[in-house]
Amino acid sequence: MALRLGDTAPDFTADTTQGTLSFHEWLGDSWGVLFSHPKDFTPVCTTELGRVAALKPEFDKRNVKVIGLSVDPVPSHVEWEKDIEETQGTAVNFPMIGDSDRKVSDLYDMVHPNANDTMTVRSVFIIGPDKKIKLSLTYPASTGRNFDEILRVIDSLQLTAQYKVATPVDWKNGDDVIIGGAVTNEEAQQLFPGGWTTVKPYLRVLAQPGK
Ligand code: BEZ
Repeated sequence: MALRLGDTAPDFTADTTQGTLSFHEWLGDSWGVLFSHPKDFTPVCTTELGRVAALKPEFDKRNVKVIGLSVDPVPSHVEWEKDIEETQGTAVNFPMIGDSDRKVSDLYDMVHPNANDTMTVRSVFIIGPDKKIKLSLTYPASTGRNFDEILRVIDSLQLTAQYKVATPVDWKNGDDVIIGGAVTNEEAQQLFPGGWTTVKPYLRVLAQPGK
């Protein structure tokens, strides 16, 4: 069965471009992003991997470890990384899993045979420090992902893990937030003594806490 939000991210041991690792041990207390790409030496994937490498400081700032995967073997990843650095201007600075036996792809349901039965789709899993899946998304091979959006979601996940708030449409770090629906006004007075704006009884807006 496909993994669902709140499920424990399956643990595994895998060969990567940075050596063999055990996933949960490697994650430690960090957040994690596990993402698959369809195939090495392909154009969209090349741009994605370069972008993730360039964003590594942003992931580090948020205590997030990033790891890539495809069903190509590690030596192929290593060879391809030279092209990524040459064409995208950033060396790949995170591990990439060589999942030739599809062990990890099968655990995370990353091969969708009705789309393609030999390549992984573009999956993303965001995993919390509790090893639970906080977000999953699936893109087709022909559409490159937006990793700024992944960072935006991480900001929301980390904020809403800390405070009883939710983030509205198109929210960005620093924007106003919404008081969670399960929070009564009495509780909200304790939690947010600075107050809030009641647009509707179910839509209570306040400045982002902690900013
Ligand atoms: C790409 O990364 O460009 C790609 C990979 C597999 C199928 C189609 C496009």
